Amino acid sequence: MQSVKIGILGLGTVGSGTVSVLKRNAREISRRAGRDIEIFTAADRDTDKNFDCDLTGVALTDDAFSVVNNPEVQIVVELIGGTGVARDLVMQAIDNGKHVVTANKALIAMHGNELFANAQEKGVTIAFEAAVAGGIPIIKAMREGLAGNRIEWLAGIINGTGNYILTEMRDKGRNFSDVLVEAQALGYAEADPTFDVEGIDAAHKLTIMASIAFGIPLQFYKCYTEGISKIAQEDVQYAAELGYRIKHLGIAKRTASGVELRVHPTLIPHRRLIANVNGVMNAVVVKGDAVGPTLYYGAGAGSEPTASAVVADIVDIVRALTSDPENRVPHLAFQPDAIKDTPI
Ligand code: HSE
Repeated sequence: MQSVKIGILGLGTVGSGTVSVLKRNAREISRRAGRDIEIFTAADRDTDKNFDCDLTGVALTDDAFSVVNNPEVQIVVELIGGTGVARDLVMQAIDNGKHVVTANKALIAMHGNELFANAQEKGVTIAFEAAVAGGIPIIKAMREGLAGNRIEWLAGIINGTGNYILTEMRDKGRNFSDVLVEAQALGYAEADPTFDVEGIDAAHKLTIMASIAFGIPLQFYKCYTEGISKIAQEDVQYAAELGYRIKHLGIAKRTASGVELRVHPTLIPHRRLIANVNGVMNAVVVKGDAVGPTLYYGAGAGSEPTASAVVADIVDIVRALTSDPENRVPHLAFQPDAIKDTPI
């Protein structure tokens, strides 16, 4: 059987991790997908730099639109980030009948409703596991593993950079800005790190998770958003003296009047599991009416953890393509024509 050809947009931290994982684990990945996956082409704005991956056999270009317009490419993997050119590229890819895999939480949270509506019309899939909680397969867990449940609430640490900063401040007495610089160097932080420290990145992710959990449209603008930028070393130490840890949480729950969405720092008793999620790790608790509380834990940011989720989505799409072209990976749990404001 012919290989499935993919085109990657952006060869930064996640893009190069995706190339490395696809190449290193090619044999296992083909077995699970049912077809070989070929990285046919990849775009980056700087094609002369030293990439952190082996690009042998990959046609490299600085023109991302040439990738989405390439008739050979069946799956476009968008790893550029942001809501500007990334949105135009994804729209164009969908218009061209290509499936899309993205790690872009801002794009899904802000423009997901229109993108999914267009994808539905064109009969293609947009998969976005990597947009939430890095390598933790939380979207698949909610959509598949908990499919029989009425989800009552979910809560978690969903920004790796913020959790890394809070952990280093508490354990090593380090100062906020130094740790942030380190998190940027480690490839954890967003291009604009205010998204991490002001809670915007967590709000994007919470918006997406709530949509899957409760079957509601994406409504980022309704999420209460507070970050960790005002937390000082003394706050962290006082909390510790009183037996608490400060954690930045995203919380979504059903209430009598709708769905409540909020992200903010929280004091958690130090013995609780979630209080012991440290460094770049993320953890999400999802409470279903049948199963009760379930806990998902893993690396929330970084090159290969995020690539792990990107590759899982590619495999899902290839598997669906191979078994039955009608058997598409679902987008969200609501019909785009039913999009309306949900009380939050
Ligand atoms: N900046 C994000 C984080 C990357 O730190 O969690 C992963 O989404």
